[in-house]
Amino acid sequence: MDETGFLDPVFAAYYEQSDNTRLTDIPYYLRMAKEAHAVVLDAGCGSGRILIPLLEAGIPAEGFDYSPVMLENLTGKLEAKGLTARIWQDRLEDVAIEENRYSLILCGFNTFMHLPDHASQISALRRMHSGMKPGGTLALDITNPSNFDVLSRNAQNRTFEATLYDGPSDTQTTIWRWFERDLISQTGVYHREYGTSGKSGKSTHTTQVEFRWTYPEEMKLLLEMAGFTDARVNGDFNGEALTEESEMQVWVARKPA
Ligand SMILES: C[S@@+](CC[C@H](N)C(=O)[O-])C[C@H]1O[C@@H](n2cnc3c(N)ncnc32)[C@H](O)[C@@H]1O
Repeated sequence: MDETGFLDPVFAAYYEQSDNTRLTDIPYYLRMAKEAHAVVLDAGCGSGRILIPLLEAGIPAEGFDYSPVMLENLTGKLEAKGLTARIWQDRLEDVAIEENRYSLILCGFNTFMHLPDHASQISALRRMHSGMKPGGTLALDITNPSNFDVLSRNAQNRTFEATLYDGPSDTQTTIWRWFERDLISQTGVYHREYGTSGKSGKSTHTTQVEFRWTYPEEMKLLLEMAGFTDARVNGDFNGEALTEESEMQVWVARKPA
């Protein structure tokens, strides 16, 4: 899939101001990482939203991501905080993970949704399974399709998302969004348009991110096909049951001991 969003510095910069402020999952992944008592891998670590709190807590954690832009942002933050970690650029679906190295592999905040089809999803899960110690844990969260507003027809309409003001350059950016979705292949495209105006004139920039949603029974089957057992799902990070109303699927599965 031609994924441009996270490779685009404009998209990545806006991620830092918007999505990167999500906090609800960090205590959850931090608790699991503390219980792991060994090296933790953040698969699709982005700019370190989860990885950095793990490192700050003294947990031996490593991460990879396919986007050089996100990794550059991560490197800058690590340097500013005086933290070090093994970080590399790779894709979930063809990463070579050292066998039996990790006791916990996490793949947070919809990262798994950027795998476009069953072949790439299974390839990614098998690679994570192979990189995990026997008895190790996989933890990931993805959007719950039964409560995914993007699947409604209205999501295709151009909709206002936010206005940002940058004081130093005295520029204002207005962001619009719209979605395409294909209910048969369970895939979609998240389009954004950034309209900037300021002293130096006006400009428009567009980005797009492709994604695929996965139903709970399908996810369970994929995990089993990749060799995981004891797959369990909740509807949030506080252990609530998954229902039609849940916004996300929070999965945990094990590599047999
Ligand atoms: C929503 S962000 C989440 C980042 C991070 N896990 C977090 O919680 O903030 C999704 C991340 O997946 C990465 N990504 C997308 N497709 C990928 C792939 N095929 N392999 C590895 N990383 C990928 C993007 O670059 C981006 O950093």
